Amino acid sequence: MFGTPIILAPIAGPGTPELTAAVCDAGGFGFLASPYSAPEKIHADVARIRSLTKKPFGINLFVQPELPPADDAMLERAHERLRPYLRELGIDTSEIARPTNVYAAQIEAVIEEKPAVFSFTFGIPSVDILARFRKAGIATMGTATTVEEARALEEAGVDCICAQGAEAGGHRGTFIGDAREGAVGTMSLVPLVVDVVKIPVIAAGGIADARSVRAVLALGAVAASIGTAFLRAHEAGTSAPYRERLANASSSDTVLTKAFSGRYARGIANRFTREMEHESNIAPTPYQNALTTELRKVSAQQGNREFLSLWAGQSFPMAREASAAEIIAQLRA
Ligand SMILES: Cc1cc2nc3c(=O)[nH]c(=O)nc-3n(C[C@H](O)[C@H](O)[C@H](O)COP(=O)(O)O)c2cc1C
Repeated sequence: MFGTPIILAPIAGPGTPELTAAVCDAGGFGFLASPYSAPEKIHADVARIRSLTKKPFGINLFVQPELPPADDAMLERAHERLRPYLRELGIDTSEIARPTNVYAAQIEAVIEEKPAVFSFTFGIPSVDILARFRKAGIATMGTATTVEEARALEEAGVDCICAQGAEAGGHRGTFIGDAREGAVGTMSLVPLVVDVVKIPVIAAGGIADARSVRAVLALGAVAASIGTAFLRAHEAGTSAPYRERLANASSSDTVLTKAFSGRYARGIANRFTREMEHESNIAPTPYQNALTTELRKVSAQQGNREFLSLWAGQSFPMAREASAAEIIAQLRA
Protein backbone atom coordinates (compact mmCIF):
# COMPACT_ATOMS: atom_id res chain seq x y z
CA MET A 1 0.00 0.00 0.00
CA PHE A 2 2.84 2.38 0.84
CA GLY A 3 5.52 0.86 -1.38
CA THR A 4 8.17 1.67 1.23
CA PRO A 5 8.86 0.81 4.87
CA ILE A 6 9.51 4.49 5.72
CA ILE A 7 6.50 6.69 6.44
CA LEU A 8 6.53 10.31 7.56
CA ALA A 9 3.87 10.27 10.30
CA PRO A 10 1.31 13.07 10.37
CA ILE A 11 2.83 15.76 12.60
CA ALA A 12 0.51 18.74 12.93
CA GLY A 13 2.46 21.92 13.62
CA PRO A 14 5.95 20.95 12.42
CA GLY A 15 4.45 19.23 9.38
CA THR A 16 4.41 21.22 6.12
CA PRO A 17 3.48 20.41 2.51
CA GLU A 18 7.18 20.85 1.70
CA LEU A 19 8.17 18.14 4.20
CA THR A 20 5.49 15.74 2.93
CA ALA A 21 6.61 16.25 -0.68
CA ALA A 22 10.32 15.96 0.16
CA VAL A 23 9.74 12.65 1.96
CA CYS A 24 7.75 11.28 -1.00
CA ASP A 25 10.44 12.38 -3.46
CA ALA A 26 13.16 10.77 -1.34
CA GLY A 27 11.40 7.39 -1.54
CA GLY A 28 9.36 7.50 1.67
CA PHE A 29 5.59 7.93 1.99
CA GLY A 30 4.55 11.28 3.42
CA PHE A 31 1.45 12.25 5.36
CA LEU A 32 0.03 15.72 5.63
CA ALA A 33 -1.47 16.38 9.08
CA SER A 34 -4.60 18.48 8.67
CA PRO A 35 -6.50 18.07 11.97
CA TYR A 36 -6.46 21.82 12.69
CA SER A 37 -6.96 22.92 9.07
CA ALA A 38 -10.07 24.50 7.61
CA PRO A 39 -11.10 22.92 4.27
CA GLU A 40 -9.59 25.84 2.31
CA LYS A 41 -6.22 25.19 3.95
CA ILE A 42 -6.44 21.46 3.16
CA HIS A 43 -7.03 22.31 -0.53
CA ALA A 44 -4.17 24.84 -0.55
CA ASP A 45 -1.74 22.44 1.18
CA VAL A 46 -2.60 19.63 -1.21
CA ALA A 47 -2.13 21.93 -4.21
CA ARG A 48 1.30 22.84 -2.83
CA ILE A 49 2.26 19.15 -2.39
CA ARG A 50 1.10 18.36 -5.92
CA SER A 51 3.15 21.26 -7.29
CA LEU A 52 6.25 19.74 -5.64
CA THR A 53 5.86 16.01 -6.25
CA LYS A 54 4.00 13.57 -8.47
CA LYS A 55 4.25 10.82 -5.82
CA PRO A 56 1.29 9.52 -3.80
CA PHE A 57 0.80 10.85 -0.25
CA GLY A 58 -1.70 10.68 2.61
CA ILE A 59 -3.83 13.09 4.63
CA ASN A 60 -4.60 12.76 8.34
CA LEU A 61 -7.47 14.07 10.49
CA PHE A 62 -8.67 13.74 14.06
CA VAL A 63 -12.01 11.92 14.36
CA GLN A 64 -14.15 14.53 16.12
CA PRO A 65 -17.71 14.30 14.81
CA GLU A 66 -19.08 16.84 17.26
CA LEU A 67 -18.04 19.07 20.12
CA PRO A 68 -18.90 17.72 23.55
CA PRO A 69 -21.40 20.00 25.32
CA ALA A 70 -19.67 23.03 26.83
CA ASP A 71 -19.58 23.32 30.61
CA ASP A 72 -19.34 27.10 31.03
CA ALA A 73 -18.34 26.98 34.70
CA MET A 74 -15.55 24.53 33.88
CA LEU A 75 -14.36 26.70 30.99
CA GLU A 76 -14.32 29.74 33.27
CA ARG A 77 -12.21 27.88 35.85
CA ALA A 78 -9.79 26.53 33.23
CA HIS A 79 -9.45 30.02 31.71
CA GLU A 80 -8.92 31.53 35.17
CA ARG A 81 -6.11 29.04 35.80
CA LEU A 82 -4.39 30.17 32.58
CA ARG A 83 -4.89 33.88 33.22
CA PRO A 84 -1.54 34.49 35.01
CA TYR A 85 0.36 32.88 32.12
CA LEU A 86 -1.61 34.82 29.50
CA ARG A 87 -0.88 38.07 31.37
CA GLU A 88 2.79 37.17 31.70
CA LEU A 89 3.01 36.92 27.91
CA GLY A 90 1.01 40.12 27.39
CA ILE A 91 -2.11 38.39 26.01
CA ASP A 92 -5.57 39.92 26.42
CA THR A 93 -7.39 37.66 28.87
CA SER A 94 -10.88 39.18 28.60
CA GLU A 95 -12.35 36.58 26.24
CA ILE A 96 -12.65 32.85 26.67
CA ALA A 97 -11.51 31.25 23.40
CA ARG A 98 -13.83 28.54 22.11
CA PRO A 99 -13.27 25.84 19.51
CA THR A 100 -15.21 25.40 16.30
CA ASN A 101 -15.82 22.03 14.69
CA VAL A 102 -15.06 21.63 10.99
CA TYR A 103 -14.75 17.83 10.91
CA ALA A 104 -17.58 17.26 8.40
CA ALA A 105 -16.14 19.86 6.01
CA GLN A 106 -12.62 18.44 6.47
CA ILE A 107 -13.88 14.99 5.46
CA GLU A 108 -15.44 16.46 2.30
CA ALA A 109 -12.17 18.25 1.47
CA VAL A 110 -10.13 15.06 1.87
CA ILE A 111 -12.49 12.97 -0.28
CA GLU A 112 -12.42 15.69 -2.92
CA GLU A 113 -8.61 15.74 -2.95
CA LYS A 114 -8.43 11.94 -3.24
CA PRO A 115 -5.08 11.24 -1.55
CA ALA A 116 -3.75 7.67 -1.74
CA VAL A 117 -4.40 7.14 1.98
CA PHE A 118 -6.60 8.75 4.62
CA SER A 119 -5.32 8.22 8.15
CA PHE A 120 -7.08 9.13 11.35
CA THR A 121 -6.75 9.03 15.11
CA PHE A 122 -8.91 9.47 18.27
CA GLY A 123 -11.64 7.12 17.08
CA ILE A 124 -13.32 5.52 14.08
CA PRO A 125 -15.21 7.52 11.42
CA SER A 126 -18.83 6.51 10.87
CA VAL A 127 -19.79 3.58 8.63
CA ASP A 128 -21.04 6.07 6.02
CA ILE A 129 -17.82 8.03 5.96
CA LEU A 130 -15.67 4.89 5.68
CA ALA A 131 -17.89 3.67 2.83
CA ARG A 132 -17.38 6.95 0.99
CA PHE A 133 -13.59 6.64 1.25
CA ARG A 134 -13.82 3.06 -0.05
CA LYS A 135 -15.97 4.17 -2.96
CA ALA A 136 -13.53 6.96 -3.76
CA GLY A 137 -10.65 4.47 -3.88
CA ILE A 138 -8.86 6.04 -0.89
CA ALA A 139 -7.22 3.53 1.48
CA THR A 140 -7.90 4.05 5.19
CA MET A 141 -5.53 3.72 8.16
CA GLY A 142 -6.77 3.93 11.75
CA THR A 143 -4.65 4.48 14.85
CA ALA A 144 -4.72 1.92 17.67
CA THR A 145 -2.93 2.08 21.02
CA THR A 146 -4.27 -1.25 22.33
CA VAL A 147 -5.27 -4.64 20.93
CA GLU A 148 -8.91 -3.83 21.70
CA GLU A 149 -8.76 -0.69 19.53
CA ALA A 150 -7.03 -2.60 16.71
CA ARG A 151 -9.83 -5.18 16.74
CA ALA A 152 -12.47 -2.43 16.63
CA LEU A 153 -10.75 -0.79 13.66
CA GLU A 154 -10.50 -4.07 11.75
CA GLU A 155 -14.17 -4.81 12.42
CA ALA A 156 -15.06 -1.36 11.06
CA GLY A 157 -13.39 -2.33 7.79
CA VAL A 158 -10.31 -0.07 7.70
CA ASP A 159 -7.51 -1.15 5.34
CA CYS A 160 -4.60 -1.01 7.76
CA ILE A 161 -3.73 -0.13 11.34
CA CYS A 162 -1.14 2.21 12.77
CA ALA A 163 -0.10 0.69 16.10
CA GLN A 164 1.03 3.70 18.14
CA GLY A 165 3.32 2.75 21.00
CA ALA A 166 3.70 4.75 24.20
CA GLU A 167 7.07 6.20 23.11
CA ALA A 168 5.38 8.22 20.37
CA GLY A 169 5.45 12.01 20.36
CA GLY A 170 2.24 14.03 20.20
CA HIS A 171 -1.26 13.00 21.14
CA ARG A 172 -2.11 9.49 22.25
CA GLY A 173 -4.60 8.07 19.80
CA THR A 174 -6.43 6.18 22.55
CA PHE A 175 -10.20 6.06 22.04
CA ILE A 176 -11.26 3.18 24.26
CA GLY A 177 -10.54 3.72 27.95
CA ASP A 178 -7.88 5.86 29.57
CA ALA A 179 -4.88 7.08 27.56
CA ARG A 180 -2.46 6.16 30.35
CA GLU A 181 -3.68 2.55 30.17
CA GLY A 182 -3.32 2.79 26.39
CA ALA A 183 0.35 3.66 26.85
CA VAL A 184 1.70 0.27 25.73
CA GLY A 185 5.28 0.30 24.42
CA THR A 186 5.88 -0.26 20.69
CA MET A 187 7.89 -3.44 21.37
CA SER A 188 4.86 -5.01 23.08
CA LEU A 189 2.06 -3.44 21.06
CA VAL A 190 3.20 -4.27 17.51
CA PRO A 191 3.46 -8.08 17.85
CA LEU A 192 0.29 -8.18 19.97
CA VAL A 193 -1.65 -6.36 17.24
CA VAL A 194 0.01 -8.29 14.38
CA ASP A 195 -1.14 -11.53 16.02
CA VAL A 196 -4.83 -10.55 16.28
CA VAL A 197 -5.60 -8.72 13.04
CA LYS A 198 -5.40 -9.89 9.41
CA ILE A 199 -4.84 -6.43 7.88
CA PRO A 200 -1.37 -4.81 7.59
CA VAL A 201 0.07 -3.14 10.69
CA ILE A 202 2.25 -0.04 10.60
CA ALA A 203 4.36 0.61 13.69
CA ALA A 204 4.72 4.06 15.29
CA GLY A 205 6.52 5.27 18.39
CA GLY A 206 10.23 5.50 19.15
CA ILE A 207 11.42 4.63 15.64
CA ALA A 208 14.26 7.02 14.86
CA ASP A 209 17.01 5.19 13.00
CA ALA A 210 17.66 2.19 10.73
CA ARG A 211 17.97 -0.19 13.69
CA SER A 212 14.50 0.56 15.00
CA VAL A 213 13.02 0.40 11.48
CA ARG A 214 14.48 -3.11 11.14
CA ALA A 215 13.22 -3.98 14.63
CA VAL A 216 9.57 -3.16 13.90
CA LEU A 217 9.73 -4.98 10.55
CA ALA A 218 11.04 -8.01 12.49
CA LEU A 219 8.04 -7.64 14.86
CA GLY A 220 5.71 -8.05 11.88
CA ALA A 221 4.96 -4.45 10.89
CA VAL A 222 4.91 -3.68 7.14
CA ALA A 223 6.25 -0.15 7.67
CA ALA A 224 7.43 2.35 10.28
CA SER A 225 5.55 5.62 10.81
CA ILE A 226 8.06 8.17 12.03
CA GLY A 227 7.35 11.62 13.45
CA THR A 228 9.94 12.77 15.96
CA ALA A 229 12.97 11.97 13.77
CA PHE A 230 11.68 14.55 11.25
CA LEU A 231 11.09 17.38 13.73
CA ARG A 232 14.45 19.00 12.93
CA ALA A 233 14.21 18.45 9.16
CA HIS A 234 15.04 21.56 7.10
CA GLU A 235 11.60 21.33 5.47
CA ALA A 236 9.72 21.13 8.79
CA GLY A 237 7.93 24.16 10.21
CA THR A 238 9.25 23.54 13.74
CA SER A 239 9.69 26.90 15.53
CA ALA A 240 13.12 28.17 16.63
CA PRO A 241 12.68 27.66 20.41
CA TYR A 242 11.24 24.17 19.77
CA ARG A 243 14.23 23.26 17.55
CA GLU A 244 16.62 24.62 20.15
CA ARG A 245 15.11 22.47 22.89
CA LEU A 246 15.22 19.37 20.66
CA ALA A 247 18.88 20.03 19.90
CA ASN A 248 19.95 20.58 23.49
CA ALA A 249 18.69 17.33 24.87
CA SER A 250 20.48 15.77 27.77
CA SER A 251 18.02 12.92 28.22
CA SER A 252 14.67 11.79 26.90
CA ASP A 253 12.72 13.67 29.57
CA THR A 254 9.34 13.64 27.93
CA VAL A 255 6.03 13.66 29.77
CA LEU A 256 2.43 12.76 29.00
CA THR A 257 0.46 15.93 29.60
CA LYS A 258 -3.14 17.08 29.19
CA ALA A 259 -2.31 20.69 30.00
CA PHE A 260 -2.23 22.00 26.42
CA SER A 261 -5.20 20.31 24.81
CA GLY A 262 -7.18 18.42 27.43
CA ARG A 263 -6.03 15.16 25.84
CA TYR A 264 -2.87 13.24 26.76
CA ALA A 265 0.10 13.94 24.52
CA ARG A 266 3.83 13.31 24.83
CA GLY A 267 6.23 16.21 24.75
CA ILE A 268 9.32 17.65 26.37
CA ALA A 269 8.61 18.99 29.84
CA ASN A 270 8.69 22.75 30.38
CA ARG A 271 7.45 25.20 32.99
CA PHE A 272 3.84 24.94 31.79
CA THR A 273 3.68 21.11 31.91
CA ARG A 274 5.40 21.06 35.30
CA GLU A 275 3.18 23.70 36.93
CA MET A 276 0.02 22.16 35.44
CA GLU A 277 0.93 18.57 36.30
CA HIS A 278 -1.54 18.12 39.16
CA GLU A 279 -4.05 20.68 37.93
CA SER A 280 -7.69 19.63 37.96
CA ASN A 281 -9.00 22.76 36.20
CA ILE A 282 -8.18 21.60 32.70
CA ALA A 283 -11.07 21.73 30.24
CA PRO A 284 -11.85 18.65 28.13
CA THR A 285 -10.52 18.49 24.59
CA PRO A 286 -10.87 20.43 22.31
CA TYR A 287 -11.88 23.22 24.72
CA GLN A 288 -8.50 23.28 26.50
CA ASN A 289 -6.79 23.36 23.10
CA ALA A 290 -8.71 26.51 22.20
CA LEU A 291 -7.96 28.09 25.60
CA THR A 292 -4.18 27.61 25.11
CA THR A 293 -3.93 28.41 21.37
CA GLU A 294 -2.92 32.06 21.85
CA LEU A 295 -0.55 31.14 24.70
CA ARG A 296 1.33 28.70 22.45
CA LYS A 297 1.35 31.07 19.48
CA VAL A 298 2.68 34.07 21.40
CA SER A 299 5.17 31.90 23.28
CA ALA A 300 6.67 30.79 19.93
CA GLN A 301 6.69 34.39 18.63
CA GLN A 302 8.55 35.52 21.75
CA GLY A 303 11.10 32.72 21.42
CA ASN A 304 9.91 31.39 24.77
CA ARG A 305 9.79 27.61 24.99
CA GLU A 306 8.15 27.45 28.43
CA PHE A 307 4.56 27.72 27.12
CA LEU A 308 4.97 25.83 23.86
CA SER A 309 3.72 22.32 23.27
CA LEU A 310 7.09 20.70 22.57
CA TRP A 311 5.60 17.46 21.24
CA ALA A 312 8.32 14.87 20.95
CA GLY A 313 8.68 11.13 21.35
CA GLN A 314 11.08 9.38 23.71
CA SER A 315 13.71 9.03 20.95
CA PHE A 316 13.94 12.79 20.43
CA PRO A 317 17.67 13.04 21.27
CA MET A 318 18.24 11.04 18.04
CA ALA A 319 16.52 13.63 15.82
CA ARG A 320 19.08 15.36 13.59
CA GLU A 321 19.08 18.68 11.78
CA ALA A 322 19.21 17.58 8.13
CA SER A 323 17.19 17.54 4.93
CA ALA A 324 14.30 15.09 4.72
CA ALA A 325 16.24 13.16 2.05
CA GLU A 326 19.25 12.80 4.37
CA ILE A 327 17.00 11.63 7.24
CA ILE A 328 15.38 9.05 4.94
CA ALA A 329 18.82 7.83 3.83
CA GLN A 330 19.82 7.35 7.49
CA LEU A 331 16.57 5.51 8.27
CA ARG A 332 17.29 3.16 5.36
CA ALA A 333 20.98 2.60 6.05
C1 LIG B 1 4.74 17.26 16.68
C2 LIG B 1 3.83 16.08 16.51
C3 LIG B 1 2.57 16.28 15.98
C4 LIG B 1 1.71 15.18 15.77
N1 LIG B 1 0.49 15.40 15.18
C5 LIG B 1 -0.28 14.33 14.86
C6 LIG B 1 -1.47 14.52 14.09
O1 LIG B 1 -1.81 15.62 13.68
N2 LIG B 1 -2.21 13.42 13.81
C7 LIG B 1 -1.84 12.15 14.22
O2 LIG B 1 -2.55 11.19 13.93
N3 LIG B 1 -0.71 11.96 14.94
C8 LIG B 1 0.07 13.01 15.25
N4 LIG B 1 1.26 12.80 15.92
C9 LIG B 1 1.68 11.41 16.22
C10 LIG B 1 2.50 10.86 15.05
O3 LIG B 1 1.66 10.72 13.92
C11 LIG B 1 3.15 9.49 15.34
O4 LIG B 1 2.24 8.60 15.92
C12 LIG B 1 4.37 9.63 16.23
O5 LIG B 1 5.13 10.75 15.89
C13 LIG B 1 5.25 8.39 16.13
O6 LIG B 1 6.18 8.31 17.17
P1 LIG B 1 7.59 9.11 17.16
O7 LIG B 1 7.23 10.50 17.49
O8 LIG B 1 8.38 8.44 18.25
O9 LIG B 1 8.20 8.95 15.80
C14 LIG B 1 2.13 13.87 16.14
C15 LIG B 1 3.41 13.69 16.68
C16 LIG B 1 4.27 14.77 16.85
C17 LIG B 1 5.66 14.53 17.39
